[in-house]
Amino acid sequence: PANPFVSDSSNSLFVDIESLQRQIDELSTFSDTPAPTVTRILFSDKDVLARKYIKSIMCQLGLSVREDAVGNIFARWEGYEAELPAVATGSHIDAIPYSGKYDGVVGVLGALEAISVLKRSGFQPKRSLEVILFTSEEPTRFGISCLGSRLLVGSEQLSEGLKEAVDGQNTSFLDAARSAGYCISQEGHYFAFLELHIEQGPILEEEGVSIGIVTAIAAPASIKVDFEGGGATQVLNDAGLAAAELALAVERHVLASGSVDSVGTIGILELHPGAVNSIPSKSHLEIDTRDIDEERRNKIVSGIHQSAVEIAERRRVKLSSFKIVNQDPPASSDELVINAMEMVSQKLNLTHKLMISRAYHDSLFMARISRMGMIFIPCFKGFSHKPEEYASPVDIANGVKVLALTLAKLSLE
Ligand code: GLV
Ligand code: MN
Ligand code: MN
Ligand code: MN
Repeated sequence: PANPFVSDSSNSLFVDIESLQRQIDELSTFSDTPAPTVTRILFSDKDVLARKYIKSIMCQLGLSVREDAVGNIFARWEGYEAELPAVATGSHIDAIPYSGKYDGVVGVLGALEAISVLKRSGFQPKRSLEVILFTSEEPTRFGISCLGSRLLVGSEQLSEGLKEAVDGQNTSFLDAARSAGYCISQEGHYFAFLELHIEQGPILEEEGVSIGIVTAIAAPASIKVDFEGGGATQVLNDAGLAAAELALAVERHVLASGSVDSVGTIGILELHPGAVNSIPSKSHLEIDTRDIDEERRNKIVSGIHQSAVEIAERRRVKLSSFKIVNQDPPASSDELVINAMEMVSQKLNLTHKLMISRAYHDSLFMARISRMGMIFIPCFKGFSHKPEEYASPVDIANGVKVLALTLAKLSLE
């Protein structure tokens, strides 16, 4: 079979960037806010339309399309050794309020274009190739990120629990499932998972480098906090001021780590009842903090907790809830995948750089069940999660080429 990686046809690899750009623009119109902003919240009418749009492209490419119970969408191009674990790639199309049209989308539509490129070149995959659209990478609607990929990789607790389930003959559920051809653990289902994404940082653009190859993804945590004021109406202990103090404490704990890799923000701060002539009786904050170093991130989280307790006590308000929504470990990319991406970039004469991802991605979770690697492309001033988000057609096309050839190479492993 034709192999664009081994043969020298990689120079003539044709990315139809006009068509891809048209698709990116069209997808951005499925939005609940006016252009140039994009707002596409999980399972809203616009999200459902956008999903249909993506599925129609998947079908046009002749891929077999499947959806799971939570709306992850899989489009598979069967390899000639289809029983081998597949090589997958993908990202998300949900968009936080008033954001842009490239975050996630480049990794879904770009992946479908990468499949197109390989099909046009006459390539035949050995391992199947699969494009995945993940449900709700963004935490907007349900307060937890990467829902689809989290659920896809399964929970350790569940598989631990199932280990203890045995029948009358002392056969475990897991053994019985395995002998019937089912696999409760997703581990080994994919040979590798790749994700193409805009950098969401300024480094590639500033340094004039075409391709970022991600070596590790930082560890994210998010926390929800509620304060309740106490006392009589006219001398109510102010739950709003407690929240304000905690917001500043978050900044202090993050800066105290001394590392540029420690970051944190308070993206949500709500006061109740929200009237100018009413002392806030309740306040609600949502905190996001991340670090490439898990221990350092954990120290920040416990520092925030101590501050919340101390502030509540001193201000005589009640810390009615301190909920750690997620506290995920970081993930490392796989050597084999990194090497393949480096080789491919060199072959395409594209400058590249090894870098870490401070943003999280579905790849953070896919790394738990599969070799993982990510391709970053430059984006304008590093802007993301806002309408100024932009990646140039040339950079997108470069990313698609690297993705296509890496998929091809890993498919033949
Ligand atoms: C991704 O959306 C992130 O917040 O890192
Ligand atoms: Mn995002
Ligand atoms: Mn994203
Ligand atoms: Mn994201």
